[in-house]
Amino acid sequence: MQVIKYVFQPHGDKRGQLVALEEFVDIPFKIKRVYYMYNTIEGVTRGHHAHKSLEQILICIHGSCKVRLDNGEEKKVVPLEKPYEGLYISNNMWREMFEFSPDAVLMVLASEVYDENDYIRDYDEFLKFISKDKKIVK
Ligand code: TYD
Repeated sequence: MQVIKYVFQPHGDKRGQLVALEEFVDIPFKIKRVYYMYNTIEGVTRGHHAHKSLEQILICIHGSCKVRLDNGEEKKVVPLEKPYEGLYISNNMWREMFEFSPDAVLMVLASEVYDENDYIRDYDEFLKFISKDKKIVK
């Protein structure tokens, strides 16, 4: 599994740092939605789903957390701890976010507006969905 982590350009000067993100320049899709998680309770794991078509970039803009990616064949854990790093998550990828630091703010840039129909929230259904996809490719 290829993990795609973007390293954004911080514009630093003696006042501090600033990161600017533009669609199709720094982010590989049109940004239709932004949301963020904060005050995550210690020990909580979020996510537990995949998307049929949504693409996302996760940026832990404060604090740290970890993301488990699972494409149905392989799993990888990616730490997010820098405000200038973005983890790209394609569609058809099961994800779980965990080990949030108490100060973590996890921001998500998404290629589509919220649509519950795009979610796969059952792991067995996810495995079925991606194997169906593979048959179409073959
Ligand atoms: P949920 O999907 O449970 O979050 P997680 O990514 O941890 O699986 O979302 C929590 C609640 O927020 C749920 O009631 C749906 C709502 N929500 C929106 O209204 N819009 C959004 O863009 C998102 C991501 C969630």
